[in-house]
Amino acid sequence: MDMSNLPTTHHFDVLIVGSGGAGLSLALSLPHTMRIAVLAKSDLTDASTFYAQGGVAAVLDQTDSIEQHINDTMIAGSQLCEHDAVRQTVEGGQPSVAFLLNQGVQFTLDEQQQLHLTREGGHSQRRIIHAADATGRAISTTLVERAREQRNIEIFENFIAIDLITTHKLGQSGDNRALGLYALDDKTEQVHTFLAPFTALACGGAMKAYLYTSNPDIATGDGIAMAYRAGCRVANMEFNQFHPTCLYHPQARSFLITEAMRGEGAYLRLPDGERFMLRFDERAELAPRDIVARTIDHEIKRLGIRHVWLDITHKPAEFIIEHFPTLYARLMELGIDITKEMIPVVPAAHYTCGGVVVDEHSQTDIAGLYAIGETSYTGLHGANRMASNSLLECFVYGMAAAAHIQTQASHSYPVPIVPAWDDSQVIDPDEDVVILQNWDELRQTMWNYVGIVRSTKRLQRALHRIEMLKTEIAEYYQDYQVSKNLIELRNLVLVSEMIVRCALARKESRGLHYTLDYPALAPELRKTVLNPPNFSVEQPFVNVELTA
Ligand code: FAD
Ligand code: SIN
Repeated sequence: MDMSNLPTTHHFDVLIVGSGGAGLSLALSLPHTMRIAVLAKSDLTDASTFYAQGGVAAVLDQTDSIEQHINDTMIAGSQLCEHDAVRQTVEGGQPSVAFLLNQGVQFTLDEQQQLHLTREGGHSQRRIIHAADATGRAISTTLVERAREQRNIEIFENFIAIDLITTHKLGQSGDNRALGLYALDDKTEQVHTFLAPFTALACGGAMKAYLYTSNPDIATGDGIAMAYRAGCRVANMEFNQFHPTCLYHPQARSFLITEAMRGEGAYLRLPDGERFMLRFDERAELAPRDIVARTIDHEIKRLGIRHVWLDITHKPAEFIIEHFPTLYARLMELGIDITKEMIPVVPAAHYTCGGVVVDEHSQTDIAGLYAIGETSYTGLHGANRMASNSLLECFVYGMAAAAHIQTQASHSYPVPIVPAWDDSQVIDPDEDVVILQNWDELRQTMWNYVGIVRSTKRLQRALHRIEMLKTEIAEYYQDYQVSKNLIELRNLVLVSEMIVRCALARKESRGLHYTLDYPALAPELRKTVLNPPNFSVEQPFVNVELTA
């Protein structure tokens, strides 16, 4: 079919950008009477959700309690988590599990046919439900299957949202309201207009800002950048989680070795065999992630080695193969038999703890605009996300957004005339090498200067380079036809600037933000909030203003 003849303006009740756990839990929790569009940059399963290994945290065991899960989350988050958000999320554990089971997700069961619970760093109890070591695959494929079955959900794969359309952008006064968005059809290269009274950004995180990451290619911070440009506050971008154990192997980029392996007894070792974590933290391999990643980084730099080792060979082979079938098979393909050999591992950028500021209903600062999942800042993670709390957050806040949208849906929202995307002033790009060059430079800069251990001097160096890149990319964006790579690069450079500015504003070392210039904790607890240009509402945590 010739797609270029299809209409390029679409009207829906709800637009959802993103087909991960956050986007699809919203889509599947809305009534069947609503017409919903789900947009995804590539295939629906191409999302961090699909790659999740460990599982979903929820209080299910009789010896566990809501208070213990809250307490563990607060400790992992270095006390910077917002208590109400933590409670809302933790209390949403059982309803989220019920939602997933209802959709048909098959989790691993124990001998009593109950959900098997595993353990990960920071959790004082076994409370992680999982589907062997490929939990994300089970969740993602099931939710995608359900979404495809529903007639009220229309799916737009290979559509890349470029920017939001709001009343303020159209020059209207009064409260800013989201009207929809422009999105590029990657196949036809046409820009479409999507209009709806409600839009949700469920675009995942931004860890492609770093050269080495566990994240899939889609994680370029598009939701955070779009929301900020449209007038939303963004918070706590300095807290980037580095997962301690990504595989170090030339043929396997971005391949995670789940924390559940340490939860089930694996040790971290130096080349001489020493279990070095015991020297740094009494919780050893199960200390919170920030501590384990920083310790590995420290030992790698101290000894001048390329990686450390993860060792589970002391467990019986059947146990290893039963608990980690996907990892066993994949590593065997790469020539590593994990029942007999240790695994070479390094830390890599894994999770964006900050994001678009939302309330308990997932509402942003713009009426009709929601942000969910890794794109959002709910207050749950504080200075460090506890393992397996993020998928839980996707479901809890996806369902919260669905409930809130239903309370608002009876109002009528007049749609003003929205101009079509205007590309009359731009030309076809002549030198795509500009994108490649800036992309590499940005991610290298972030890795070298804004990594696990920071200093003011390194952050200033990074900021200087990012400002130059941003100017060059803005010029390119103004002059040339948009493309997927250009949209992503424009977002990634803005989000990288946010990370650096937040990091410079935090004059302490807390959780994931460790700086040589301020090694101690500051006495007061505060989040770092980036106000968008012209943000007018009074609020107490103003720190920095960026230009979009
Ligand atoms: P994603 O699942 O990343 O989905 C983002 C969606 O947005 C995609 O569909 C993408 O195409 C779409 N999108 C983005 N930008 C645009 C755009 N401009 N236009 C259109 N579409 C767009 N967390 C846990 O709790 N437990 C775990 O065991 C766990 N393991 C993990 C393992 C790995 C390897 C990784 C990378 C993460 C892991 N995490 C885990 C974190 C967790 O998976 C993510 O935080 C979570 O899945 C994010 O879900 P999401 O729906 O917010 O985003
Ligand atoms: C893992 O399986 O180690 C990842 C868990 C998470 O990121 O929450």
